Amino acid sequence: MTAVNHPPAPTAEQIAAVDAAITTRRSLRAFLPTPVPRETIEEILVVASRAPSGTNTQPWKVYVLTGDAKAALSAKIMAAHDDPALRAQHVDEYDYYPTEWRSPFIDRRRKVGWDLYGLLGIAKTDKARMHRQHGRNYDFFGAPVGMMFTIDRVMQQGSWLDYGMFLQSIMVAARARGLDTCPQAAFTQFHRIIVEHVGAPPNEQLVCGMSLGWADPAAIENTLVTEREPVGGFTHFLG
Ligand SMILES: Cc1cc2nc3c(=O)[nH]c(=O)nc-3n(C[C@H](O)[C@H](O)[C@H](O)COP(=O)(O)O)c2cc1C
Repeated sequence: MTAVNHPPAPTAEQIAAVDAAITTRRSLRAFLPTPVPRETIEEILVVASRAPSGTNTQPWKVYVLTGDAKAALSAKIMAAHDDPALRAQHVDEYDYYPTEWRSPFIDRRRKVGWDLYGLLGIAKTDKARMHRQHGRNYDFFGAPVGMMFTIDRVMQQGSWLDYGMFLQSIMVAARARGLDTCPQAAFTQFHRIIVEHVGAPPNEQLVCGMSLGWADPAAIENTLVTEREPVGGFTHFLG
C-alpha cells in the first residue's frame, strides 16, 4: 500500500468506518490464542508506516515476536518480575511518568487503576494479586503477537512525538481488521532483557511493547471502558 492522492469526498460509511476504528480502540488485557497471520501483521505495519514524522525521519524500529520467541521472552521477564532481588536490578531507562504527580493527572491515573482492579475483584491491599495482574503484561495478556518498539538514541523529543503517531496508527489499523491491542510501557523496566533477546544493537532504546490479537470476549477486564474529558474540558476556541 503506497500513498495515494485524496479520494473523492468520503461517504458517510467511510467516515463512520474511520471513526469506529479510532473510537472502538481500547487497551484490552485478555486475548484469545488464535494466531494472527504474518500477512495481516505486515499489512498493519505497512499502513502504520504512513504515519507522519518530522522531515520524514521515520524513527521507528519494530520487533515482532510470536511462538517460541515470544514465549521465551515472556519467561525471561517473568523470572525477573517474580524475584524481588532480580527485579530491583531492572530500572526504567526513561521516565514515562512525571516524578511529581498533580491533579487532574493523578486522579485519572487512580481512577483507571481502581476501575480495572475493581472489575477483577482485586482489593487495593491484595499486593500478591496486583503483582500477578501486573505480570500479565509480560505474557502479552495471552496475545499471540508481541511487538517491541525501539528508537535510535540520537533521536530527540520530536521523534518520540512521531513515534506516538506510528503506535496509534498500528492500533487503529489493527482495529479496522477486528484485532485489538494493548500498548505497554510495563516492558520498559526490563529493557535490558528485551534488547538482548530481540538482538537490538546498543544504539537502539526500547520505547515500549504492544500486545496484538483477538480479544477474549468472555474476559471481565475487557469490559473496561475508560473515561474521557469532554472537548470543552481541554479545548479553547479562539476567534
Ligand atoms: C504508551 C502507552 C503505554 C501503556 N502501557 C500500559 C501497560 O504497560 N500496561 C497496561 O495494561 N496498559 C498500558 N497502557 C494503556 C493505558 O492504561 C490506556 O491507554 C488508558 O488507560 C486509556 O484506556 P484505553 O486505551 O482503553 O482507551 C498504555 C498506554 C500507552 C499509550
